Amino acid sequence: MNGTTELAELLRWYVAIGVDEAIGDTAIDRFALPPPAPAAVTEVAPPSPAVRRPTPPIAISASPPAAGAHVGDARKLAEAATTLDELYAAIDAFEGCALRKTATHTVFADGIPHSPLMIIGEAPGADEDRVGKPFVGRSGHLLDKMLAAIGLDRQRDVYISNILFWRPPGNRKPTDDEIATCLPFVWRQIALNAPQVVLLSGGTATSAILRRSEGITKLRGKWFELSVPGLDRPVPALTTYHPSFLLRAPPRKSETWRDFLELQSKLESLQKK
Ligand code: URA
Repeated sequence: MNGTTELAELLRWYVAIGVDEAIGDTAIDRFALPPPAPAAVTEVAPPSPAVRRPTPPIAISASPPAAGAHVGDARKLAEAATTLDELYAAIDAFEGCALRKTATHTVFADGIPHSPLMIIGEAPGADEDRVGKPFVGRSGHLLDKMLAAIGLDRQRDVYISNILFWRPPGNRKPTDDEIATCLPFVWRQIALNAPQVVLLSGGTATSAILRRSEGITKLRGKWFELSVPGLDRPVPALTTYHPSFLLRAPPRKSETWRDFLELQSKLESLQKK
């Protein structure tokens, strides 16, 4: 793709995600700006810092011992894994979650281990179950576009996983028991990746990791600090809407766009350190 085509793609994406005006949340004093650039300049302006709203982070630590027949087994296996490959092998062999019996594949992760950004979604759907990788269906394509809009690529900059490693039949919502059973593996997956930032995509990932009962509409766009066992520093985590929700509710894309700008800004500031 040449530069002009890429910019046109990006502009189309801005429109698709609900950016219908070139303004931020805060009014701009145009009298203070330098004179406008010559009309021939077609470059798309970078995201305005005016739309970023820093929210004070809130500390969260890994789940306390949870009830559930197989949670203890999951925790022991997770703790024993010292690499992501070992963790994958432990999960793939784990028989404590009934979803494994109906699923075609264990869906562990996609992208690049140890990337600065780790994205956690809900659970594999039909496409993910067939392919064995997270976010490869329609919502995955939207996620890829959202990442591209802030200059990120799943095969270069991001590690992607889910709260559940197996598809719930018929794409039903995960049960509390299924989530509790998979969570020790998820926390270990965060620890072994040691990302600089976690993006919690959607209500299920948000409530499972943060152990908060408020819905995603209340929690989205906020930063939290995750105290991850095995890591010696807290990991900032941002909450946002799930791409499959955005496919059903396109007007919410503009809020998500603001979250992605925050994410971009956080990653840039951490990389400068
Ligand atoms: N939705 C998710 O939360 N995860 C996937 O992998 C696919 C769809």
